[in-house]
Amino acid sequence: MSGPLVLAIESSCDETGIALVEGGRTIHSNVVASQVAMHAAAGGIVPEVAARAHLRWIVPVLDEAMEGAGSGWADIDAVAVTRGPGLAGSLLVGINFAKALAFAWQKPLVGVNHLEGHVYAAWLREAKRAGDPQTAGTVDADAGWPEPVFPLVALVVSGGHTFLAEMRDHLTYRLLGQTVDDAAGEAFDKVGRLLGLGYPGGPAIMRAAAGASARDVVFPRAWLGDTYDFSFSGLKTAARRIVDAARQVEGLPALADVPAVDAGQLSSERQAELAYGFQESVLDVLVTKTIRAARETSARSIVLGGGVAANRILRERLAARAVEAGVPLIVPAPALCTDNGAMIGAAGAWRFAAGERAGLDLDARPSLPLARR
Ligand SMILES: Nc1ncnc2c1ncn2[C@@H]1O[C@H](COP(=O)(O)OP(=O)(O)OP(=O)(O)O)[C@@H](O)[C@H]1O
Ligand SMILES: [Mg+2]
Repeated sequence: MSGPLVLAIESSCDETGIALVEGGRTIHSNVVASQVAMHAAAGGIVPEVAARAHLRWIVPVLDEAMEGAGSGWADIDAVAVTRGPGLAGSLLVGINFAKALAFAWQKPLVGVNHLEGHVYAAWLREAKRAGDPQTAGTVDADAGWPEPVFPLVALVVSGGHTFLAEMRDHLTYRLLGQTVDDAAGEAFDKVGRLLGLGYPGGPAIMRAAAGASARDVVFPRAWLGDTYDFSFSGLKTAARRIVDAARQVEGLPALADVPAVDAGQLSSERQAELAYGFQESVLDVLVTKTIRAARETSARSIVLGGGVAANRILRERLAARAVEAGVPLIVPAPALCTDNGAMIGAAGAWRFAAGERAGLDLDARPSLPLARR
């Protein structure tokens, strides 16, 4: 055992996640029940439906996480839970469940910022279990797993947030820049819908873009001068205009004239070309600003997190540019970039080690900020 064993609960949005994480690094189990398929029919998340689904799944997810780790409650040193930001009803399910466990088991309770979880996913690694084919290729705790080094620059790109922060030590964040309107993930989701690619748009756009043979349509980039801020709402408007022009070429009605985008689809070649152009625009700005921030703050590592960090092209491009800049890039496995309990267990362990304890009056903070400028 190296460090506390934290039971961590994540329920801020549409994934019910529970994990057991040792010492803020080693994953003993990480179970996620995703509602993505359930919300796909509505084309987005319905908050009341999400909260009810958390209630439905949280006990089976806990059982599976405990079983997967081979742990009993007596082994657990602390219970960590996401307290915000997120959907109030969804957060409350996880928080109340965590309180009940902490109370019943007489364990300390630690509240964690969801965005901090996305950053701390960079510290995670799978525990290697003897004889387990699933973890056979993974590295165990002592085998030189690369780890973020301070000072670092963290880019978090998720469904609700896009920001760059500098960390000079654990749990301290200085905001370098953030989106002034939409989050990058939100832009992926909206443009995915305009293109008729379905929900969530991020993975769908990535898949479509990979098949693009024509790459001629250029989408605008919002640089916002030499700030580290981002803006994606103009891109969304431009995307609507570009999609409409393409629809006209293909003899389809304008988006405004059809009740749902799936009333007449662009050809898959056109979808792919536009998905490619859109993705390039978003990734160009994200990568360029992150590398500049790393250089200007003399960062010793770059950390990437949040659902959009599951994007293969973003990971590859940022990795290549980070090599050029001589700054190591740490990116969690794609499944640890989207919402999960393990990332809350990683951040929770550092908060626990710093002596933080939440009372049973811990409340949901739907707009909890992470960093200040
Ligand atoms: N391969 C991918 N390429 C681009 N975007 C992706 C990819 N996979 C997931 N995403 C996007 O990631 C987002 C979901 O990320 P995440 O689960 O971290 O968001 P969230 O928890 O809803 O928001 P937040 O973390 O801001 O509260 C969605 O917008 C989704 O489209
Ligand atoms: Mg998230």
